[in-house]
Amino acid sequence: MVLAGAVRSTKGTVLVVGAVFFVVAFIGLIFNHLNSWDQPTRTNPESDGFSAPPANVVPGGAITPSTSNAPAPPPPPFGESAAALRNFYLKQLRKPSVKPDDERYHPWGAFNWSLPDNPRWKQRMGESLCIIDLDNRPFNESQQIFGPDAMTWDNALAVHGLSLGVLNHWIYAKIHGYKYYYVATEHYGDRRASWKKPPIMTKILKEHDVCLYIDSDAIFHRLDLPFEWLLNYWELYPESNSLALAFDPDNDWNKDRFGKVYLNTGFIVAQNNPTTYKILDTWQRCPDEGEPYPTCTEFRLNFPGQPTDQGGFGTFVRYNFSESIRELPCTEANGYPESDSGCKGQFIRHLWTGKHDQIKVDVGEQVPGPYLQMFHEQFKDEMDTFYMTERDLMSKGPKAATKKRPATKARKESGNGKSP
Ligand SMILES: *[C@@H]1O[C@H](CO)[C@@H](O)[C@H](O)[C@H]1NC(C)=O
Ligand SMILES: *[C@@H]1O[C@H](CO)[C@@H](O)[C@H](O)[C@H]1NC(C)=O
Ligand SMILES: *[C@@H]1O[C@H](CO)[C@@H](O)[C@H](O)[C@H]1NC(C)=O
Repeated sequence: MVLAGAVRSTKGTVLVVGAVFFVVAFIGLIFNHLNSWDQPTRTNPESDGFSAPPANVVPGGAITPSTSNAPAPPPPPFGESAAALRNFYLKQLRKPSVKPDDERYHPWGAFNWSLPDNPRWKQRMGESLCIIDLDNRPFNESQQIFGPDAMTWDNALAVHGLSLGVLNHWIYAKIHGYKYYYVATEHYGDRRASWKKPPIMTKILKEHDVCLYIDSDAIFHRLDLPFEWLLNYWELYPESNSLALAFDPDNDWNKDRFGKVYLNTGFIVAQNNPTTYKILDTWQRCPDEGEPYPTCTEFRLNFPGQPTDQGGFGTFVRYNFSESIRELPCTEANGYPESDSGCKGQFIRHLWTGKHDQIKVDVGEQVPGPYLQMFHEQFKDEMDTFYMTERDLMSKGPKAATKKRPATKARKESGNGKSP
């Protein structure tokens, strides 16, 4: 009896303690939730945050992961099985769910998007399609993409939002077999580093058929959806199109001096054709003194409310090449639902004001639990196949500046590439 009573009261205590813990955790969750949404909803047209690197950074120098004072990295999760688990993810969990020209795309059976008639991209493009990341910030602190330790949800608070964007781009390329590049850019003496987009894209596009540039706070929201399908959906064909960009939300602060809403230059689809190079060259020279647009110099540097490369592109360049530039709907290729901006980011999400929190939710749902650490380990392991300095890119070209992975290892680990 005494024993039974003791057991019962212990159980009771456990229950009470459990209930109290639950209530405290629940309240904590609610407060966290309120905090994370207590953000300004104004969308900064150029919130990608290219910045001047700290003084000790060698421009365009290779990243050197720090070893000093860093906590000892945890052992890689799942050791030997990591490769098999990653393969399961890429080949099963997030495998391409439609063919490039399948008539309909029904993610989760809940949506129903269909292609226009006569889609012309019929084959998987493999490495003739490329995805470009570029930045002049080193991102080499703890829990950043080039940091000394692997990113892990065990330390979710410290995980760096923009680094998850970069990881998303690389994983998407891996799933579909596209070529991925990361370019560590130098900075311009007299203008913001984001003005590097046109010369870098020009150099890389020469060795591919189609290339995408995407900001680190933008992500491929539907990992299973092949980009060829989107090219068909948006009717982006090299004979009739050079660049495609999405509108920004329809707000006064997103308009150029003629009252037209800017195209966001954080996501750009470029076709390898002569007009594309003409546009990129004109855009690159836009903020130069004199030709081609004398007053474009005002877009060299950013200050609150002032876009730079986007301002020059939107105010001048697009009007001279309107027939070759496709304007994509904001809700399909810009914004995110929680932004309440009218732009839901149905295919491409751009988390302008959510790059510290909502991007973690979105990428966290794509790469949950140990998958974050497992893919980040692999990303760092394969860096020499995609990472290059601007100097190397400009002198050698993208393919020569990045090493090819030995065929056997690439097949075993990543299993990507062109369809047979
Ligand atoms: C990051 O990289 C830069 C440039 O290589 C280097 O100067 C700096 O010390 C690094 N910081 C850390 C924390 O590793
Ligand atoms: C999807 O939409 C098309 C028209 O665009 C329609 O013919 C088809 O029945 C729809 N399918 C489903 C499953 O709703
Ligand atoms: C852009 O278009 C305007 C108006 O048609 C024209 O005057 C100007 O020369 C063009 N500029 C360039 C760089 O093509």
